[in-house]
Formats: sequence, C-alpha cells, structure tokens
Amino acid sequence: MAESPAVSEHVLHELEPSVERLLAQHLDAARDWLPHQYVPWTASLDFDGPLDGTPWSPDQSSLPQAVRDALVVNLLTEDNLPSYHFEIASRFGRDGAWGAWVHRWTAEEDRHASVLRAYVHARRAVDPVALEELRMRHVGTGFRTGLPTLLHSLAYVTVQELATRQAHRNTGAVCQDQAGELLMARIAADENLHMLFYRGLFADALALFPDEAMTALADVLRDFAMPGAAIPGFRSRAARIAASGIYNLDVHREYVVAPLVRALKVMSLPGLGPVGEQARERLGTYLEQLAERAARTRELSARMASLKQAAITA
Ligand SMILES: [Fe+2]
Ligand SMILES: [Fe+2]
Repeated sequence: MAESPAVSEHVLHELEPSVERLLAQHLDAARDWLPHQYVPWTASLDFDGPLDGTPWSPDQSSLPQAVRDALVVNLLTEDNLPSYHFEIASRFGRDGAWGAWVHRWTAEEDRHASVLRAYVHARRAVDPVALEELRMRHVGTGFRTGLPTLLHSLAYVTVQELATRQAHRNTGAVCQDQAGELLMARIAADENLHMLFYRGLFADALALFPDEAMTALADVLRDFAMPGAAIPGFRSRAARIAASGIYNLDVHREYVVAPLVRALKVMSLPGLGPVGEQARERLGTYLEQLAERAARTRELSARMASLKQAAITA
C-alpha cells in the first residue's frame, strides 16, 4: 500500500539536510565532460535516406555480438529518462535541495543516451531502423516502478545506479574498441557518482528511519529488476549478455548487492525494532539464496565455456 503524503513529506523534510550535503559533495566531485569528444566521427558514414548514403548491414560492425546486445539494452534503458525523471520529480519534488538534485541528475543523465546513440551509429554497431523501432516502443510504453514508499524509491535508485555503472563499465571492458571503452568508462564514472549520492542518502535514511529503510532495502533487493527488463526481446539479449559475463547474477551479487550491503553496514545496523529485524532476516535469507544461484550461474558459464573450447579445438 502506498504511504500517505504526510509520511512522504516527513521523510523528505528529515532527509533534506543530507541532500544538501551530498549534492554539494557531488558537485565538487563531478567533472564536466563533453559528449561530442567521445564519438569516433572519422569512422562514420552517411546513411541511406535523404542523404543517400550507405545502408546499414550486419557485416559493418566488428563489435562482439554480446557487446552489441548490451549496447542496445544500455541505450534503450538510458532512453527512458523522461519516465525516470517523472518518477523522481513526482516523488522527491522540484523545490529546494531535492529539486536541485532532480534537475542536476537529469541534466547529467541526458548525456548518456545521446552520446551512446551517436557512438552506436558512428560504429554502425546495430541496425539503426530496428533500434529506432525499439526506442519508440520502449519509450512509448514508459517505465514505472510502482514502489510503495519514498524509501523504497531511494533504495531502488541506489541499487539501479550501481547496477547501471557495472553494466556500462563491463560493456566497455570487452568491446574491443578503444573509443567505446573510453566512452563507457566515462558514463560509468557518472553512474558511480550518482550511486555515491544515493548510497550516502540511504545510509542517513537507515539512521533516521531504521525499520522503514531496512524494510525498503530488503523488498527492493529481493524484487530487483533492471529498468531495461521491459525492452522487447530483452530475455534473449540478457542471456547473451549474461553468458559473456557483462552482466549476470554473479556480477549482480559480487559488484552490486554485496558491496552495498557492506557499505551500508546493513547486517550490523543498530536500533532496529521487530519490523526492522524481520526485514534484516529476510535480507539475510535473500543473500544466501543469491549466493547459491550465483554459484550455479558461475558453474554453468564455466561448463559452457569449456564445451565451446572443446568444439573449437575438435
Ligand atoms: Fe545513465
Ligand atoms: Fe545515473
């Protein structure tokens, strides 16, 4: 059940000094960068259509298939910024320190889709017509989390920024293209600062509202799905992305869930009442299950890799 506006207002009010402090830290740490400098323009060609250029064909890209899948998922995920802006603007408000964060964050995020799309087209990485059709469908559907409380929203964005950082970083690391690697490391650095902002805010939320924040974190981690999960054809792309090690359950556990739980000192947090203790227990059970599932994913990947190797050498 959604919380009352009075409860949201109270949480917003209590956390406003934290937002002010963390926004100042963010502005201090953020380095401005120019998206156009990261696009390999010399490699690009006009396309067919009004400019009568060269149509796209699959052989024009040398990027690995899983990297192309990851680029499509990462880009379409970034494309849905209007929905994310609406989510946080309607939750956090557009005034004071919260509003300043919402607008600054939106301005920074807006670079990601535009520069990724320029890169993808300059490298002729994916079918531009199919990509545009997917964008229309994905953005046309919109995205909503449907989370019940403000603290759930805060927990979600904390996890999501870190997951996105990892997805961009790992895509760049295996893309076999120096320009792509530089660009995706640059975007990942933005996502990292966003994560640090939200993680700092969530740490303060755990101190101020331990039971409610613990409940929110347990719920969000257990049900977490990347915002790109609604992209048409997501499952087959996600399977290839997982097999390549760019993003899978093991990565999610090792680089997203475990570091967050550690940094927020969730398992030793003092001051919990019965509701918070119950939530922490739920979280502990989830972490155990995640570790088991991640280990199975790892074994499966290793088996598949050795089968592939055997097929190559046969
Ligand atoms: Fe982003
Ligand atoms: Fe971000």
